[in-house]
Amino acid sequence: MTELGKITIRLEEVDSTNELAKEYIADSLGEGAVIVAEVQTQGKGRLDRVWESPKGGLWLSIILKPGETVIGDKMGVIPLMTGSAVAHAISTFAEIEARVKWPNDVVINGRKVCGILSQSIVHDDERWVVVGIGVNVNNKVREGYEFSPVSTSLTEELGEELDVDSLMKIVVCELEHFYNLLKEDKSDEVLEDWLGLSDTIGKKVKITTPTEEIVGVARGIDENGALILELENGDSQIVNVGDCRHLE
Ligand code: BTN
Repeated sequence: MTELGKITIRLEEVDSTNELAKEYIADSLGEGAVIVAEVQTQGKGRLDRVWESPKGGLWLSIILKPGETVIGDKMGVIPLMTGSAVAHAISTFAEIEARVKWPNDVVINGRKVCGILSQSIVHDDERWVVVGIGVNVNNKVREGYEFSPVSTSLTEELGEELDVDSLMKIVVCELEHFYNLLKEDKSDEVLEDWLGLSDTIGKKVKITTPTEEIVGVARGIDENGALILELENGDSQIVNVGDCRHLE
């Protein structure tokens, strides 16, 4: 069984926990290490976006080495299971319903509270994955920064402040559970759990990929975490990457 968070590096400020985690892999920091910072000065989002990371949020990266068992497209399950882990952690800790939005956001009442940036790198011929998690906890996102208007934070939803460190410990513990299922080749259980939390399935969505925009109804996910869309002409289309907007 792989334990996560046995080594936790806490920093007041860093450019990006994901970037530092990648450097630490080269410095032989092993699987399961967690890097958490109070502030990121150059937080990174998906698709080269900036991720605003002021004090009060939970900004962390976890180093994974999925090895032989999680190969090829199954790597696509990692960001989805991370979303499930965060959603469970928020629901347990803050007693508010958090759901997952394909591919890897966590939402409360339809607003994004957490983003996930999973980056795969090869070092010394071995594959490593850095999973970056950003949760808006006590930072107010509706009042400024460059957050999208559809974002929220836990404090804005609950009207109170939460202990960021306690939330982090639950997130890491939940992720450890899902990661070990994945390593035991039980990705079907992981995806089943994601489906139970999904805010996307059953909705009409618009997917924007680097090359096209696709509108359809989200009908499910395949064994690699790709979205199965039913198009307006009745055909099915599988989408591996893209930005997803719920149209209803
Ligand atoms: C997204 O665009 O939705 C993904 C955002 C991921 C942000 C987290 S914060 C911790 C880690 N370090 C980074 O630079 N990014 C990720």
